[in-house]
Amino acid sequence: MFNIILFGPPGSGKGTQSEKLIFKYELKHLSTGDLLRSEIASQTELGLEAKKFMNKGELVPDEVVIGMISSALENNPHSKGFLFDGFPRTEAQAAALDQLLKFKQTEIGVVLALQVCEEELIKRLLNRGLTSGRPDDNNGEVVKARIIEYHKKTSAVADYYRRFDKVVEVPGEGTVDEIFESLCAEIAKRKP
Ligand code: AP5
Repeated sequence: MFNIILFGPPGSGKGTQSEKLIFKYELKHLSTGDLLRSEIASQTELGLEAKKFMNKGELVPDEVVIGMISSALENNPHSKGFLFDGFPRTEAQAAALDQLLKFKQTEIGVVLALQVCEEELIKRLLNRGLTSGRPDDNNGEVVKARIIEYHKKTSAVADYYRRFDKVVEVPGEGTVDEIFESLCAEIAKRKP
C-alpha cells in the first residue's frame, strides 16, 4: 500500500492533480473539502456546523475531520493506497492520521507539497468563484482568510513530515500536465 499526501495552500491545484494521480496509481481519493461539501449538500448536522467555519474561510474543528477520515479509512479496507487531499491541515490531524494508518499497518509514503505564489492562488480562486458557486471562492476577503489560515495552522504540517524526511516540494505553476509529470517523477523515486 502506498499513501500520498498532496499538500499546498488553497488553490494550489490539489484537487486538479488528485484526479489524475488517483487514476494513474489506482488510489482512493480522500478530500476532506469534498466530504464536507457533500455533508453540506445533504444538510446533515455535521454539514450545517461545518458550513459556518467554511463560509468564513476558517478550518473546521479537528475532531470533525479526523472522524470523517477515520470512517473513510474503515470503509475502504481493500484500497491499494490513499491520496489525502486537504488533509491533514493541522499538526493534531497529522498525528491522528499517523495513528490511524499505523492501525492499518501502513504509513504515508510521500508528502508532495505544491508551491504556488500568493498572487496566482488568489487569481485562480476568484476566477473559479465566477462559476463554481462555492461561497468561499467568490469573496476576496474569504479567499484571503483561507490563505491566512493556511499560514497560521497548516504550513506547520509540512514541518511535521519534514522530521521524517517525507516532504518533496514541487513547482505548482505551469500547465496541469507539466505539474502532473513532476509529481509522477517524485512518486517514482519513492514508490516501492
Ligand atoms: P478544500 O476544499 O480542501 O479547499 P482548499 O484547500 O481551500 O483548496 P481548493 O480545493 O480550493 O484548491 P486546490 O488546491 O484543491 O486547487 P484546485 O485543483 O481546486 O477546503 C475548503 C474548506 O473546507 C476549508 O477552507 C476548510 O474550512 C474546510 N476543510 C477542508 N479540509 C479541512 C481539514 N482537513 N481541516 C479543517 N477544515 C477543513 O484548483 C483551484 C483552481 O485553480 C481551479 O479553478 C483549477 O481549475 C485551477 N487550476 C488548477 N491547476 C492550475 C494550473 N496549473 N494553472 C492554472 N489554473 C489551475
